[in-house]
Amino acid sequence: MRVGVFDSGVGGLTVVKSILKANFFEEIIYYGDTARVPYGTKDKTTIISYSLDALEFFKNFEIDMFIVACNTASAYALEELQNNTDIPVIGVIESGVLALEQSDLDDKSHIVVLGTRATIDSDLYAKHLRKVGFSNIDSIATPLFVPLVEEGIKGSILDESMKFYFSEISKVDVVILGCTHFPLIEEEISLFLNNCKTIHSGDAIVNLLQKRYNLKAITKKTKISFFASSNPDGLKKVAKKWLELE
Ligand code: DGL
Repeated sequence: MRVGVFDSGVGGLTVVKSILKANFFEEIIYYGDTARVPYGTKDKTTIISYSLDALEFFKNFEIDMFIVACNTASAYALEELQNNTDIPVIGVIESGVLALEQSDLDDKSHIVVLGTRATIDSDLYAKHLRKVGFSNIDSIATPLFVPLVEEGIKGSILDESMKFYFSEISKVDVVILGCTHFPLIEEEISLFLNNCKTIHSGDAIVNLLQKRYNLKAITKKTKISFFASSNPDGLKKVAKKWLELE
């Protein structure tokens, strides 16, 4: 099986990391729209149009499944993508919500959703969470975390940013890392919020692929290739580092 993974840039590699570990696919083709990142500051029409361009890009590769690793694109473009192809199109928001539904949390558990401004403005995580019975939800746009992760900045600057964003929340049970970049500061976020649980989009996608598509690990090693709309070498360099490829 050949899967296409799409993100606005390099962040979706955090999702690829989980998929690679699960070893479901013969081949993974990754496409990052690095020429037009970030999506998190764009409007709905633009996000849909860019996402459809990505689907068009994958038409050359005869993929069997299309994974939208980008939370922002999942929030705005999933339906449009599904209407434009016959293959399954899977987003990270439904997977994140499914992971919570299957957890041992109850309907009063305090859930905090983090994401780009566009993802939070869409309110899609909260809408889906309310539909499955959760009612204690806070959604916070934390766009500053994106450049911090890309620059590899942690320490006092990340601490100050967390203080700024999280000053009004307490007693958090679980944080949804609703942006491709946030798994890279998962430990820091959890620690700051008193060791709360976290939902990681990559692990959530793996869980959904197992449950809904019955995918299992294969014995062959996955072939993986990387494409980007700008600076593909830069993306390959990040991929080598984040995915620990030889
Ligand atoms: N990939 C985006 C997301 O997961 C984050 C970066 C961007 O704003 O494009 O929402």
